[in-house]
Amino acid sequence: MKSFFHVKDIGDLGAALEEARQVKSNPFAWKHLGENKTLMLVFFNSSLRTRLSSQKAALNLGMSPIVLNIGQDSWKLETELGVVMDGDKSEHLREAIPVMGSYCDIIGVRSFAGLTDREFDYAETILRQFVDYSGKPVISLESATVHPCQAFADLITIDQYKTKARPKVVMTWAPHPRALPQAVPNSFAEWMNAADVDFVITHPRGYELDPAFTQGARIEYDQMKALEGADFVYAKNWSCPGVTNPADYGKVLSKDMSWTVDAAHMAVTDNACFLHCLPVRRNMIVSDEVIDSPRSLVIPEAANRVVSIQVVMKRMLEEMQ
Ligand code: CP
Repeated sequence: MKSFFHVKDIGDLGAALEEARQVKSNPFAWKHLGENKTLMLVFFNSSLRTRLSSQKAALNLGMSPIVLNIGQDSWKLETELGVVMDGDKSEHLREAIPVMGSYCDIIGVRSFAGLTDREFDYAETILRQFVDYSGKPVISLESATVHPCQAFADLITIDQYKTKARPKVVMTWAPHPRALPQAVPNSFAEWMNAADVDFVITHPRGYELDPAFTQGARIEYDQMKALEGADFVYAKNWSCPGVTNPADYGKVLSKDMSWTVDAAHMAVTDNACFLHCLPVRRNMIVSDEVIDSPRSLVIPEAANRVVSIQVVMKRMLEEMQ
């Protein structure tokens, strides 16, 4: 695996889930693979789970993880080509990336969408430079449009807790005070479309995700109707993807608190499990009652972040042996 951005990069999902089960039950069995190998984690943005789960998975595989926080530990980096660098940015990605690549065997990058220039974000302009200039396998740790390590962990969690062969999974938009990227819902849609689940997306009008990720999935604008009979409720906020109106890209179009997932929403489901990628704003995205209930899986879901990235890095290391 040369890079990990999309569901297609992991290949057969049944085989990936079986590998995830093996990694989960015996996390240290492949410690020899990472001997004398280095994982570099590059963060342009904050993180708790991704940062720690990636380091933990690397240690499980015998790798040495090193972490760089851009702009805090490093020089400020210029990301656009052709500019006169007379501002506060001291180094260009064009030099910084091959230097970083020379210090590691696998490179993970977190680089959120700027949410001002849809073309720049949806071209994955920063992540693509890591692919082009690092010379190493690259993992998206949430880039402008995708968060594959999260979506794979979400699928592992659904596989672990499902009680039906083909569960109904509903991804619902929920309100948030700030504009958030579409990477998590994009990837969740992409992975659920590839999985054996009955997948439904619900959001207010204007929040339509990019069809490249939703791929014809059922969209139901009536949230309560969408939630009826659900086995898993996946809550997430996202800002306007600019699909129906490009001028609205990155804007907060609604803060309608009737979309907050509470007990009344969960009551119409089939005793659904609640999922969220975290961090979560309590009583904006989800009520205390729901996230604190026994049906909330947010902690095991976060724990599965170690498993998902360990499977990815294990495969990359196997190809290097
Ligand atoms: N879900 C997730 O990616 O969490 P962090 O932003 O804390 O890494």
